[in-house]
Amino acid sequence: MILLEAHGLTYAYPGGFPALLGLDLRIERGRRLAILGPNGAGKTTLLLHLNGTLRPASGQVLLDGATTGYTRAELSNWRRRIGLVLQDADDQLFAASVAEDVSFGPLNLGLSDEEARQRVDEALAALHIADLADRATHMLSFGQKKRAAIAGAVAMRPEILLLDEPTAGLDQLGSSHFLTVLKQLEAMGTTLVFTTHDVDLAWHFADDVALFKAGRVIAQGAASDILIDEAAMSQAGLKTPFLARIGLELRSCGLLSANAPLPREETSALQLLSRIRG
Ligand SMILES: Nc1ncnc2c1ncn2[C@@H]1O[C@H](COP(=O)(O)OP(=O)(O)OP(=O)(O)O)[C@@H](O)[C@H]1O
Ligand SMILES: [Mg+2]
Repeated sequence: MILLEAHGLTYAYPGGFPALLGLDLRIERGRRLAILGPNGAGKTTLLLHLNGTLRPASGQVLLDGATTGYTRAELSNWRRRIGLVLQDADDQLFAASVAEDVSFGPLNLGLSDEEARQRVDEALAALHIADLADRATHMLSFGQKKRAAIAGAVAMRPEILLLDEPTAGLDQLGSSHFLTVLKQLEAMGTTLVFTTHDVDLAWHFADDVALFKAGRVIAQGAASDILIDEAAMSQAGLKTPFLARIGLELRSCGLLSANAPLPREETSALQLLSRIRG
């Protein structure tokens, strides 16, 4: 079922370059969507349309199949359902301390102080930054700020969470904690959408992929199809994910049958290789 949809969106920044040129995208409930494409392709601009921050010059955003409105009440309802974690955490964090920042959303939802505190504690623990609760947000490292910004969105438990390059700048452990948090959030009913330049992350984690190029979506579909479509990938300036290339290579040498799935995770690739070695 399609939850959120962009239909023929066009947008140009004031006095700027046209950023979206008739963009179509579908977000299906419960399916993880990765958005990929080169710098300047319009990924961030699209996310800003999907939570109503930017309004298209033409085209529509449909939520549950209905056109979205831009009155204050409609925007507030919209943002309650659709969370957005910005590319640059400095644009997201505004309260003095980490705990205050993360509590802002839940308090705004009308939760009691006690419920909000519980959400904050859970979100900070999930992102492994409980020790930063009382730290000033402007005195954190890049990755710590990023984790705090993600914690703020997680504490809202939105219906859809849009994440703009969430793992860029996170250390290995931070990335793996983050994916665990996303899975927990998903289990509570949140649909995940994220932009990334990491094709290997998309191969491992996404169900669906949309490829952006110059303000348009040039391909959207199952990750297992799109990410090995060399023509579409190279149009978007991307290479096939590493594990997919290994799997395809094994297929072409006859070591993996044509109908066996390609390995999506390191562990399954290693198992496959050790099976082949006998
Ligand atoms: N605030 C702005 N004012 C004017 N033009 C902008 C602004 N932000 C983005 N643009 C332009 O809009 C286009 C799309 O930018 P956008 O930030 O959406 O790209 P992106 O796909 O998110 O890129 P990246 O991978 O670098 O994050 C680019 O041509 C960019 O130069
Ligand atoms: Mg961007």
